Amino acid sequence: TRTQVVIVGAGPAGLFLAHLLHRQGIESVVLDTRTREEIEQTIRAGVLEDWTADLMRELGLGARMDREAHFHTGITLQHGQTRCHLDLMELTGGKRVTVYPQHEVLRDLIAGLEAAGGQMLFGVRDVDLREVTAARPRVTFRRREDGPLETLEGDFVAGCDGSQGGSRQFIEGRTEYQKVYPFGWLGILVEAPPSHHELIYARHERGFALLSTRSSTVQRLYIQCGAGEHVSAYPDERIWQELRARLAAPDWQLTEGRIFQKGIVGLRSFVTDRMQQGPLFIAGDAAHIVPPTGAKGLNLAVADAVYLFRGLEQFYRDGHRERLERYSETCLRRVWRAERFSWSMTTMLHVDPTENAFEQRIHVADLEYVTHSRAAATALAENYVGLPLDG
Ligand code: DHB
Repeated sequence: TRTQVVIVGAGPAGLFLAHLLHRQGIESVVLDTRTREEIEQTIRAGVLEDWTADLMRELGLGARMDREAHFHTGITLQHGQTRCHLDLMELTGGKRVTVYPQHEVLRDLIAGLEAAGGQMLFGVRDVDLREVTAARPRVTFRRREDGPLETLEGDFVAGCDGSQGGSRQFIEGRTEYQKVYPFGWLGILVEAPPSHHELIYARHERGFALLSTRSSTVQRLYIQCGAGEHVSAYPDERIWQELRARLAAPDWQLTEGRIFQKGIVGLRSFVTDRMQQGPLFIAGDAAHIVPPTGAKGLNLAVADAVYLFRGLEQFYRDGHRERLERYSETCLRRVWRAERFSWSMTTMLHVDPTENAFEQRIHVADLEYVTHSRAAATALAENYVGLPLDG
């Protein structure tokens, strides 16, 4: 089978790319080894930057988001028992963030692409990427375990297969940059009404805590934990004790409820330089990872998809490859800014057991600076709502 763009991976990068291409009449096939149910049920990020939410609307996919999402015009930073409200809207000249979980975004993208006649193959097996950088790039796979081996040939391949995917290894001579943080996040989902009208990011001597939300009946909370810890070390009562201690503030109470999901993730910063090799272009987590503290990961994947779309669109319109040739450079400029911001939010808000007392005090000074200086607060807000896509 032939198509124009083979898209490996049905996450945010792959599905936004498929939509953008489809809208310009450029054909693609999206492949994923996961089933549609797995993709639609895996709980991941929760915050859309202002332009990402606008892109959902532009693609005609904003209706459910506009009905069900929470729009946040500010965030709260907390140190010890002191809270400071940052008015994002006022600091950025009218921008806000949208709290709408990634799996809901993916459900809307998949349903929209299906309705538009886009091609997606879920639950495929034996995906073989060996020919993705050939002059006629192709991917082989099976639709079912006992099905025949099929070949999908395209003009280009988009590697949107996540941090554990195979596409990155085909970028020859790439440089990889990485920082692994000596702590992780324990995340829970709770049946309870919201405790606060906006997100709270807290630095406490016991470690970081984040209060987020999912709906009027489900809340999302996180606490910093040890890097290699297992959820079995965290019975519900221990989690509540930590959350109560780290989020405590005068005249405020944390709303508790039944914990129905628990999980631990490690924190890591990672960048691949370059992101292209011949007809192969990688996007999203396949190329870079940010620690979750700045809520940038999903948005960065969508930005890559937009840049790749612009390059492909130029190529199919008039045969020029300038934008495609500048793809890595264009993406990486924005990637490094998001890496810087995510790293700075992470180091400012977590207690790193490998740092000495001087280093810990510097992070407290950082936090005091953003909560007492309008210039510093403006810089944080500008990054949090999302830097503009240039060009
Ligand atoms: C959520 C996750 C984040 O990493 C963050 O910075 C804010 C909110 C969330 O899952 O709701």
